[in-house]
Amino acid sequence: MAKKTIVKMPGDGIGKVVLDETIRVLEAAGFDANYVEGDIGWEFWCNEGNPLPERTLKLIEEHKIGLFGAITSKPKDAAFEELAPALKEKGLVYSSPIVGLRQHFGLDICLRPCRSYKGNPLNFIRRGPNNTIEEPEVDVAIFRQNTEGLYGGVEWSNPPDQVYEALMTHPKFVKNFGETPQEELSVSTRIFTKKATERILRAAFVHAKKYEYKSVTVCEKPNVIRETSGMMYKMAQQIQKADYPEIELWNTNIDAQMMWLTKNPENYGVIVAGNMFGDIVSDGFAGLIGGLGFACSAQFNPDTGIGVFEPTHGSAPKYADYETSIVNPIAMIESACMMLDFIDENEIAAKIRKSVAEVIAEGKVKTYDMMKMTGRADVVEKGAASTQEMADAVIAKL
Ligand code: NAI
Ligand code: MG
Repeated sequence: MAKKTIVKMPGDGIGKVVLDETIRVLEAAGFDANYVEGDIGWEFWCNEGNPLPERTLKLIEEHKIGLFGAITSKPKDAAFEELAPALKEKGLVYSSPIVGLRQHFGLDICLRPCRSYKGNPLNFIRRGPNNTIEEPEVDVAIFRQNTEGLYGGVEWSNPPDQVYEALMTHPKFVKNFGETPQEELSVSTRIFTKKATERILRAAFVHAKKYEYKSVTVCEKPNVIRETSGMMYKMAQQIQKADYPEIELWNTNIDAQMMWLTKNPENYGVIVAGNMFGDIVSDGFAGLIGGLGFACSAQFNPDTGIGVFEPTHGSAPKYADYETSIVNPIAMIESACMMLDFIDENEIAAKIRKSVAEVIAEGKVKTYDMMKMTGRADVVEKGAASTQEMADAVIAKL
């Protein structure tokens, strides 16, 4: 097989550290690839006025696979302040390069698996009968629609006349908002298309079948958000009935799901949701398996084979300048394993996951989050493993 080229995008802050350490793990595990570096993040916004330069898009277009650390994002006004003086006159507006990547390449399928590792001191525990303590085994795969819905970007403050007039054709708008002056309105839309909804649902069912999960749960709110959530659930029923009768289809409301996920997380298998609810429910489940140091993700377009793999965490700027990096690289390493699965390097992925599992089960090497310490520069002196030591421990097990 021809050697793969991976577009590595370190981004900002701790993104750079966790990505470097992960590439070390990949190499030690025998994954033989070329890496080219894609520019992305704050530095490129400040100096070029674009956090996602065209040349980076070209690299991904060409090589298809991106391994991404994390970026720093700031609100619109703060972003403008930091722009290079020569660019300030150009009317540039900051927007997130991750959202930009998703939309440019139609990376509409986002997968966030949450699987607990045995022995992880951060695993969720609950009280069982007779004051016993139970540690439920969590293994869910969350499919989040990644390009539409509430994050689709179709929104206005003081909406233009045509939009306002269109809204005024809806009786509920007239009743509930008709008295409010136009300039006092902010509107964010939640648009679902049949096409994208079907794609995310099918991706969820394909995954459930491939990995033998017994159920797919649509986690939305169809009793209240009747049109969008309602459409998703109805389509799920049709797909299940026609093509996946052996898989159970469940339906939960996002609010109730957030309550149930601590009550009986072991009951869930594949979960599928729109953009915002998928974001929420995946953070919720990630909290049960160790939080940001463990939460990994893939976003891809099954038609083009373009995929970008990244930890869920951000650039954690407060830890970025520590002489010895303290953050947990496992979320990034796990994201790289998802990349390996995506390009059919399953054996190497399995080998790395097994090593990570062994390190965690053994419990000798733990980053500060696993020791429940507050993140500070002195945690390594106090016995926590550094980012590099954690990667070394994984490499030693390979
Ligand atoms: P963050 O995820 O960067 O950090 C929040 C806290 O989580 C940290 O202070 C740390 O205590 C912990 N944490 C994060 N990663 C960890 C790791 N690998 N190991 C151990 N602990 C870890 O989120 P925050 O502070 O809200 O945002 C910082 C910047 O990152 C912002 O500019 C934000 O916009 C951006 N961001 C970028 C994301 C991305 O690149 N996908 C996602 C989330 C935030
Ligand atoms: Mg999030």
